[in-house]
Order: sequence, then C-alpha cells, then structure tokens
Amino acid sequence: MRTRGLGTSCVQGGYTPGNGEPRQIPIIQSTTFKYDTSEDMGKLFDLEASGYFYTRLQNPTNDMVAAKICELEGGTAAMLTSSGQAANFFSVFNIAACGDHVVSASTIYGGTFNLFSVTMKKMGIDFTFVSPDCTDEELDAAFRPNTKAVFGETIANPALTVLDIEQFARAAHRHGVPLIIDNTFATPVNCRPFEWGADIVTHSTTKYMDGHGVGVGGAIVDSGKFDWMAYADKFPGLCTPDDSYHGITYAEKFGLGGAFITKCTAQLMRDFGSIQSPQNAFYLNLGLESLHVRMQRHCENGRAVAEYLHGHDKVSAVSYCDLPDSPYHARALKYLPNGSCGVVSFELKGGREAASRFMRALKLCAIETHVADARTCCLNPASSTHRQMTDEQLKAAGVPAGLIRVSLGLEDAKDLIDDIAQALEQARFRESLKTREAMPIVPSTSPWSKPTGESANASSRSRAARRGPNTARI
Ligand SMILES: Cc1ncc(COP(=O)(O)O)c(C=O)c1O
Repeated sequence: MRTRGLGTSCVQGGYTPGNGEPRQIPIIQSTTFKYDTSEDMGKLFDLEASGYFYTRLQNPTNDMVAAKICELEGGTAAMLTSSGQAANFFSVFNIAACGDHVVSASTIYGGTFNLFSVTMKKMGIDFTFVSPDCTDEELDAAFRPNTKAVFGETIANPALTVLDIEQFARAAHRHGVPLIIDNTFATPVNCRPFEWGADIVTHSTTKYMDGHGVGVGGAIVDSGKFDWMAYADKFPGLCTPDDSYHGITYAEKFGLGGAFITKCTAQLMRDFGSIQSPQNAFYLNLGLESLHVRMQRHCENGRAVAEYLHGHDKVSAVSYCDLPDSPYHARALKYLPNGSCGVVSFELKGGREAASRFMRALKLCAIETHVADARTCCLNPASSTHRQMTDEQLKAAGVPAGLIRVSLGLEDAKDLIDDIAQALEQARFRESLKTREAMPIVPSTSPWSKPTGESANASSRSRAARRGPNTARI
C-alpha cells in the first residue's frame, strides 16, 4: 500500500536525515566497520543483529538507495548489485541450483539470454524459452517437476514486446514457483509488476534509473508475497537450515518479507561479491531523484519519434507499443497506461546499406551500445553488435539488417526529429547518387562530410564504430 506519491518516493525515499545530518545521502566509502567487542561482531555473523561488517556483502549507502528502489516498486526488501547481469543471475541462482529448470520468455535482453542459455546451463540449470505471446496451454507445457521460477521482461530489450505479466504470474503460481520480472525499461514509474502478481523484480540500474550513462549497476526487489514454506520441497535453500550460516533457515527466521534478500546477501553476495560501489550507489540515487520527471520526457520523445517514423516512406516497420497499431498496444494500455519507455526500433527500407548511410548522417543521435540515457543514442545491430551475421542469419534471429534501435533522450523532440529527418533524406539522396554511380558514399571531400562541428564528431564516431568486430550485446 503506497503512502505517498511515486515522485516523492523518487526524491526522498530511502533516507530521512536526522537533526543536523547531511541532506544528501552520505557515501560510506569504507570497506570495513569497527566494533567494540568480538561478541558484537559475532552477532552480525550469526545474523542475530543487523549491521555492517564488510562492504563485499553490504554497505549503508547501497542500502539507502536499495530502500528507495524498494519503496518505488512496493516491495519488502531490496539489494543493489554491481550490474543488471548480476541482479538477474542472483535472482535466479538464489532459488535454482544444478539439476533445476526455469521457464523464461524468449524475448529478453541478449546478455540475459546468454547468461541463461550458456553460462547457467553449464552450471546445470536448464531453461525453456517460450514466446511472450504463448497461450496458457503452451506456457503450462513448458513446466517440469523441477521448475523453480519463471522469468520475463516487462518491455523486452530489444524486441520491445510487452509481457502479459498477469498471465505469466498465474502460470508461475499454478506451478508453485515465483515470477521474476526484469523491469528495467518500464521502471517503477511506468509499471510496478508486483501490482500484477510478480514476486521478484530486477533492474539494470545502468539504464533509466541512473539515466546519465554514469554507473553500471543492478537491483533486486522482493515483493514479500511468495510463500516459500508452502513449497518447502522446491526451495530447500530457503526452507532448510543453511550450514554455512550456523543453521539458519531463512524463510523461518526472516519470514515472507525478508527471506529472499537476506539469503541472497548472506550467501551469494558473500561468495560472489558482485556489489555496487557506494560511489556508484550515490550516483544512482542522483538519477533516481529525477526518474519520475525524466521518464515522462523519454516517453514523450519516444512517442513523437515513433509517430514521425510511422508511415515514413523510407521506413518499412516501427516497433513501439504506444502506437495504436502495435500488436502490444492493448497490453501497453493495461500495464503501461502512462507511457512505456523512450526506446523505439524501426526498419529502414534498403537494409544494411541504407541503415549504415542513415547512421553516418546522424548528428545529434550518437552511435552507442547503450540505451535509456539522457542523450539520444542509436544502434544498427547489423553493422555493430551483430555484424558477424549474414543477412539471412539476421533475419532468422529477428534482427533484420535495416533495423535501427533508437533510445530517445531528453533533448527537444523537434531537434531529434529534424536530425532523423535529415539523416533519412541523406540516406535517400546518397542512394540515388550511388545508383547513378556519381559519387562514393562518403567521399572525404564530400560537401556533406565537412569536418567541422557536429558533423566532424559524427564522422569520427562513425569511423570509430567501423573499427573492428564488436560482439557485445547491449
Ligand atoms: C533489460 C535488461 N536487463 C539486464 C541488462 C544487463 O544490465 P547491465 O548492463 O547493467 O549488466 C540489460 C542491459 O542492457 C537490459 O537491457
């Protein structure tokens, strides 16, 4: 139950200074913490008292920021991780072990797909991937007796599909397992998955939450609603004594609201140490303070650009769930009534060549393997992250050669549209020149590539972007 508005939680959640204390959250840049007696410290190791002993597991600055994210999502406990990858890994590995199985939507971030289908598979955890548009029967058929969780993204990166969270939550609960939702693109400002039945939420805070391209980070939030003890046989890690923590049974000692995050901190953070630095947590908090204001602008710009591209004669398709003819529009109206996000993808007629010409001509929109930033950035997977693939392979992977993903920032929509419009025009003009063999595409003396001001930056960016294979999937 929310006691105050989301905007107030963004600005003031997680930290309330006492009399004479700093107004901004303090950065506790200390690896360790001092105690008067060994007995005092022993109580921390026994999880008998709460407090800090080593920043590899927990740090007060991080906990203040995690508390803010927890309040925003409407959860009972939360923790920060060093990255979104770590958050998704921990959220699954906290309840699934070698020999277990997880059901996941197929349209998830490429890095998460690799984590699940390659790295965690090597650890003995099997994943079945289902379409985000599957029927109840197809979803039920994916479960096995050893299934421990269901995973999906509210708005998938980069497919931009919208998950039917209620449908996936019902299926998870029919089979006695929690639904984990990666809510990175929507953020709690636009969707709070716990209100639709999700049990655990994860974030790559690197994206909108930070929002300024400053710090890589992640977060995990527990709704406190999943009853682990009701399925004790499935979740021995939470429901039987932990020998590595003096025989504590997390679900008994910390209850519904605290068991998941306490176990994740006490076991996984202790052993893997994938913690966010307090300095990065501080930067993240600065981003969170304006998240509610920024999301509104990202969505306005996303919608304006999607509407401009929709029906443009150089564009064959636009993916953006706020467009009325999007196959995900009905779900967007239900789950994302105030807007979705600022990421739009579209396909250029003319494939790889046209996309490459378009990207080269951009001046304001930067070529980056990043999304959800204050500055607009874009990526043509065929000429960057997926450049090792042929056109046929790209098509099979659902990433057509002419696909461009643009993440609209906080600039003025008119300037962004003007930039995109001139780049589309240049792509078209150069195409006609090329067909007449009048001029090479980017002649160093071309009137369009004068090395001054913004265009100089754009051409040096494109040179850097052409420099060598890049297999990162961001
Ligand atoms: C939806 C989603 N989840 C997780 C990640 C991984 O996050 P990070 O890069 O912070 O590890 C990303 C990265 O782009 C993402 O888009």
